[in-house]
Amino acid sequence: MTTAPKSTTSLRDRLFPRRPLDAQEMFGARAMRRIVRALPPVEAAYATIRFTIMRSKLLSVMDLLLPPDGRILDLGCGFGLFAAYFAQTQPARQITGVDFNAKRIEMATGVMQSLGLTGHDFIAGDVRDLHVDGGFQGIYVLDVMHHVPKEDQEKLLGTLYNLLAPGGVLILKDITTEPWFGLKFTEYLDRVMVGWDEPLAYRHHTEWGDMLAKLGLKTRAVRVPDVLPYPHVVIAGWKT
Ligand SMILES: C[S@@+](CC[C@H](N)C(=O)[O-])C[C@H]1O[C@@H](n2cnc3c(N)ncnc32)[C@H](O)[C@@H]1O
Repeated sequence: MTTAPKSTTSLRDRLFPRRPLDAQEMFGARAMRRIVRALPPVEAAYATIRFTIMRSKLLSVMDLLLPPDGRILDLGCGFGLFAAYFAQTQPARQITGVDFNAKRIEMATGVMQSLGLTGHDFIAGDVRDLHVDGGFQGIYVLDVMHHVPKEDQEKLLGTLYNLLAPGGVLILKDITTEPWFGLKFTEYLDRVMVGWDEPLAYRHHTEWGDMLAKLGLKTRAVRVPDVLPYPHVVIAGWKT
């Protein structure tokens, strides 16, 4: 009597088979874990909270909107958490991150290095005074616009428009101003991070959409529901 060959598939893979359509989302969770492991303890704790707030659903929306290759600008990149995420999900992307916090820029460079992600660069500087070459296929601004003073926001969007290549996409992920409770919940947590002196300049998502449309971008916006009361919105504008 012959015995059946022993299966080499792990129990995990048998319970949760990796079908091609699942791959991105499955990889998303793995990409996040790798980034958290590449950071020192305090930043790793922050990254875990940040990835919990952002959730793979929201990141998948942005991942799908961003081109799978080409030059991409991450405006206000912080520690480079999301640059490291989008660089892992689509390795042909070349990401440039800008943030005025030099320590975060140094850390973003280190995270990319320790994950073996090459072809990306991080620049310390104010996003209102950008010194980067244009022709980006994608630009994303993840929870940064409301940290830019209100009077500078429209001018900054104009600069970003000029930095986009034809056919390129500008993605704003921000917090909209309704429902009121959601805004106050977010504002309180933002205040814990930045203190009570820094201005926080949120806008309703239709205002962002109108400003992008005024620049000539074709826009679409979606709310991304969350179990927490964050009123997340993603607004995308394509340059024709
Ligand atoms: C809430 S954090 C978001 C960081 C990152 N995008 C993320 O989602 O984890 C806002 C970031 O914007 C940066 N920032 C705010 N205003 C800026 C400015 N005018 N120029 C450059 N960076 C700025 C801060 O240093 C901070 O890292």
